[in-house]
Amino acid sequence: MVAEQVKNLSGEIFERVVAFRREMHQNPELSFEEFETQKRIRKFLLDIGITDVKDCANTGLIALIKGKNPDKKTIGLRADIDALPIKEENQCEYKSSNEGVMHACGHDVHTSSMLGTAYILNKLRDQFEGTVKVVFQPGEERLPGGASIMIKEGVLQNPTVETMTGQHVMPLIDAGKVGFRKGLYMASADEIYITIHGKGGHGAHPHMNVDPIAISAQVITALQQVVSRQAKPAMPTVVSIGKIVGLGSTNIIPDKVEMEGTLRTFNEEWRMEAHKRIIQVATSVTEALGGQCEIEVRKGYPFLNNHEETTEQARQAAVEYLGEENVEDLDIWPAGEDFAYFSQEVDSCFYRLGIRNEEKGITSMLHTPTFDIDESALEVGAGLMAFIALKQLNA
Ligand code: NI
Repeated sequence: MVAEQVKNLSGEIFERVVAFRREMHQNPELSFEEFETQKRIRKFLLDIGITDVKDCANTGLIALIKGKNPDKKTIGLRADIDALPIKEENQCEYKSSNEGVMHACGHDVHTSSMLGTAYILNKLRDQFEGTVKVVFQPGEERLPGGASIMIKEGVLQNPTVETMTGQHVMPLIDAGKVGFRKGLYMASADEIYITIHGKGGHGAHPHMNVDPIAISAQVITALQQVVSRQAKPAMPTVVSIGKIVGLGSTNIIPDKVEMEGTLRTFNEEWRMEAHKRIIQVATSVTEALGGQCEIEVRKGYPFLNNHEETTEQARQAAVEYLGEENVEDLDIWPAGEDFAYFSQEVDSCFYRLGIRNEEKGITSMLHTPTFDIDESALEVGAGLMAFIALKQLNA
């Protein structure tokens, strides 16, 4: 039984995967600065006998594991390796020692379990035909996204990758379980920057000034009309303004208000249209009220589409490996993720690895200073990814 073999190997490498995860968690590096992380990954790969390793996108790595008939087909597996500018508040022994930087999005989990996956697949080389391309990707958390750079540098060629599979930790799912969604899954994520220029002055004489605070309130409200009145019902859209700065006082109207926000969509055409509408609404409302609007909508990652067949195949593999009761179907998730670039190039599947354990108090969400995981998830993460890869290769 292949599943049993994979489980045994996953158990065999588990302690080293945990150790790697802890060391990586303790030594997080920001996007595109993952130099020590890159060294550690390379060392681990060499230690387990994987020598066909090269650099990509400066701080990323590509490792090849060749099976019996290596030219038959190539599949890609991806783990992201960067950390976030967050000050860790956990008190665990493997707490970040790089002040102000933290693996708060679980990329240490993705990387360490992928090393486990590489170990398993390398041990089972005589059980599959084709080649596995293991991709350790830098800079997921920062534009333009390491995935887009790796693609430009040819990660999907030589040999040509037929499918890409990636996993991401999910604090809403219990450790031991995983989640899948076919089709549209994650959103495009664009940044909105608005400055509303008015004319500041005494708060007692608004008629002698142009009040950018009052205008910005109208702009924020009007922007929600793009979501509720202009997006088609079948096109989920989110506009959130998350920052508003107007430095007046009780009796002072400021000269300007600066705002920042995000736009999330699941359709490229509508995304471009929404950019225009947002600019038009913000500009028109501001001008109608006597102010001037400077606005930029900066393009981020595209939406992430999970290829139907590839995802169904991976889901089936998960059911076989973990049991039906441990495989969940996911709802659409309007966060952004640069794995989306891969999904636009090749048939892809991006699934979720459960890491939650309420009894142990492990419930913090991603990008929070108390994020942590139930490490038993690493055994599932390493083994399941290997099992999915074997299914893809032997299909
Ligand atoms: Ni992430």
